[in-house]
Amino acid sequence: MVSVAILGAAGGIGQPLSLLLKMNPHVTRLNLYDLVNVPGVAADISHINTNSTVSSHLDKQNLGAALTGVDIVIIPAGVPRKPGMTRDDLFNINAGIVRTLAEAIADYCPTAIVGVISNPVNSTVPIAAEVLKARGVYNPKRLFGVTSLDVVRASRFVRDIRPTVDASALRIPVVGGHSGTTIVPLLSLAEPRFGGDEVVQAKAGAGSATLSMAYAAARFTDSVIRAINGEDVVEPAFVSLDADPHGAENIRALGAGSLEYFAVPVQLGKEGVQRIVPVPSVTPFERKAIGVASAELQKNISKGVSFTQKAK
Ligand code: NAI
Repeated sequence: MVSVAILGAAGGIGQPLSLLLKMNPHVTRLNLYDLVNVPGVAADISHINTNSTVSSHLDKQNLGAALTGVDIVIIPAGVPRKPGMTRDDLFNINAGIVRTLAEAIADYCPTAIVGVISNPVNSTVPIAAEVLKARGVYNPKRLFGVTSLDVVRASRFVRDIRPTVDASALRIPVVGGHSGTTIVPLLSLAEPRFGGDEVVQAKAGAGSATLSMAYAAARFTDSVIRAINGEDVVEPAFVSLDADPHGAENIRALGAGSLEYFAVPVQLGKEGVQRIVPVPSVTPFERKAIGVASAELQKNISKGVSFTQKAK
């Protein structure tokens, strides 16, 4: 019995994600919310003959109903990149969207596990955290930036170099954040590639990764559900290091220093983050990359935090 709300369900990620979660046998209720087109998406998806119930929630006055009683909220609402843009260029629009949605989460489902997909994740997660803190309902164990796509991509890219490996079985740890140089795949053999930029360029103005992201978000959501149901699951995510201060010591020693948020492998449990999984060792090359990532990440996090403070 798991209820999931998708905020931004009619978008490029939201539609295939809704489809994939409709096919997940553990999901009993799927609440789809968007400012446009969501009645059609919900009607379409609801005809798939799996047991879950799908409901449509159009426009802000129905946001509370979309969130009431849900266990998991996934947020792909917001604008995607066009060629030449960085994820940080999306800040001005998406920061306000995530703030509004986080306020509603605080009001209607303060104990839900929340996965933020909207970019720039390095800043939107701190924004959501600050909103939840201000409303007295923040639990660092329950807020995630969804970085699963970075691991999905890293695994697939390694297969390009080593065609004999099974890409679906590979889990390359990716630490840091979710943009440009803050994404640090911990594999010295991997050729540096900027997966997100490749998709943005190939789509030539029609958006960024949607289908692979929907797959990654469906995998993330399934991991959260399996953990709620008692399974032992490890999933990468951009989380507050306060969620497991002991586990975070190792990550801080790798170069995260005093950063509040970092992408790490997370062992999930019923309450969200159960444990930050230690990264055994890194090469000197990777340590240097983590240093570069941390400097950029600090700026992204501070930008998110000061956005919420300015709004007070
Ligand atoms: P899209 O433009 O196709 O869809 C976004 C949807 O959000 C639209 O249906 C829009 O109506 C809706 N929306 C806008 N404002 C809203 C609000 N206030 N409340 C509810 N819904 C709202 O964009 P796409 O391609 O689905 O990307 C969504 C976001 O995901 C972007 O910010 C993109 O950068 C990010 N992204 C994140 C990735 C990650 O790894 N975390 C990977 C790829 C994209």
